[in-house]
Amino acid sequence: MLTTFGCQMNQADSQRLRGLLAKIGYAETETEEDADLILFNTCCVRQHAEQRLIGRIQSLINHKKRNANLIIGVSGCMAQNMQAEMLEALPLVDLVFGPNDIEELPLLLQKAANGKTLGSFVSKGSFDGDTADGIILSRPFSAMVNIIRGCTNFCSYCIVPYVRGPEVSRPMPELKAYISDLAASGVTEITLLGQNVNAYGRDIGLEEGFTQLLEMIEEIDGIRWVRFMTSHPRDFSLAAIKRIARLRKVCEQYHLPVQSGSNHVLELMKRGYSREKYLALVDAVREHISNACLSTDIICGFPGESAEDFNDTLELVAKVRYESAFMYYYSPRPGTEAAKMADQLSEEEKKDRLARLIELQNSISLEESRKLVGRDYEVLVESAAARDKNDLVGKIRSGRSVNFSGDKSLIGRYVRVRIEQARNWTLSGKLLPPEGA
Ligand code: SAH
Ligand code: SF4
Ligand code: F3S
Repeated sequence: MLTTFGCQMNQADSQRLRGLLAKIGYAETETEEDADLILFNTCCVRQHAEQRLIGRIQSLINHKKRNANLIIGVSGCMAQNMQAEMLEALPLVDLVFGPNDIEELPLLLQKAANGKTLGSFVSKGSFDGDTADGIILSRPFSAMVNIIRGCTNFCSYCIVPYVRGPEVSRPMPELKAYISDLAASGVTEITLLGQNVNAYGRDIGLEEGFTQLLEMIEEIDGIRWVRFMTSHPRDFSLAAIKRIARLRKVCEQYHLPVQSGSNHVLELMKRGYSREKYLALVDAVREHISNACLSTDIICGFPGESAEDFNDTLELVAKVRYESAFMYYYSPRPGTEAAKMADQLSEEEKKDRLARLIELQNSISLEESRKLVGRDYEVLVESAAARDKNDLVGKIRSGRSVNFSGDKSLIGRYVRVRIEQARNWTLSGKLLPPEGA
């Protein structure tokens, strides 16, 4: 059984882990009781993720007592970040490996039988062994594609560059072959991944590499929808937006993490853009991409964030009117610059600001969602709905999920749906007959 935490990078790595495990004869189990291997692909971007995982591992003690063959493994960012602690302080854990050591799993499993805790940690990522037929997709029609591993930005609060290593772009011809293979196997939707997709190609001498890549994918038969995340506002050029606006396959989904609306805080965060530059980017997206859906990430309670700085964030949120936002309060990560800064805010103050921010964004999300009611959208049907198995759930181009009734044979197909009701993030609607029918 494999459980994935954290961002889409980890989801993509789990696609590969599942593939590797299937090749050596492991089949996925639904429960921990049935499993001979329990693997956690972990995240360490905020502190609470770590605490939760340690608790979870400790709760497996009875399984371990019952099943002498059970192997417990920890992979991903937290494994990389806490190598020594994981190897020594958690006796239940048999193997530990970092996000750049995925290909090592079969070997580690072979060796794990001898009872010693094993580890594998490489500091720089590569794409070796990452082939389209070496992955297992949770939905056969939709795949995540890593285009750039690592991150070299060192935003002052963030641990990712320390655990994932420096930026490494996958060469364009390799990506062409990879995505063509996916298309040949029935994939129609791809999500291009990177901590900063706009930096794609920078380390291998490509100018405007990300735009070139999207233009290349536009020509691959079989791929219908292309999404990407995450964009870094500093590296997203206006020229790129104009060129992307011409591409039919690229979905109108723009996740543009702002982090803060205050220039003072943005500078402390080392984000490399100002509030004004960010707002100009938002204007450009709205001008050139019709029906663009904007979302963001925000951290509140950063060290040194004054009441005024926080107000700047609230004001920016009210101005941009994101359809959704991932909002967090600042969590100090040992080893990062911000963790050492003076003026750390109290837990209480951070939580209070987060609550105010969430309240504002929720009301905006709801108002924006209501604007979609009555409109018709093309929907990629993804699965049966979690709550009511008779319902289907799918996504529209902008990334919003829609629930509607329909037959399961539609899963993986593109249909038309009229939106009838809007809650905060989830929409519901009714299936329309195919166009021209
Ligand atoms: N590469 C992406 C973000 C990856 S991490 C980008 O630059 O936008 C995902 C999100 O976690 C970040 O956007 C940020 O909002 C949040 N985050 C990162 N470090 C954090 C920390 N120390 N405390 C709270 N939130 C954090
Ligand atoms: Fe972290 Fe900044 Fe890199 Fe995003 S761009 S992963 S926030 S260092
Ligand atoms: Fe977490 Fe690693 Fe992603 S720290 S957010 S899983 S890159």
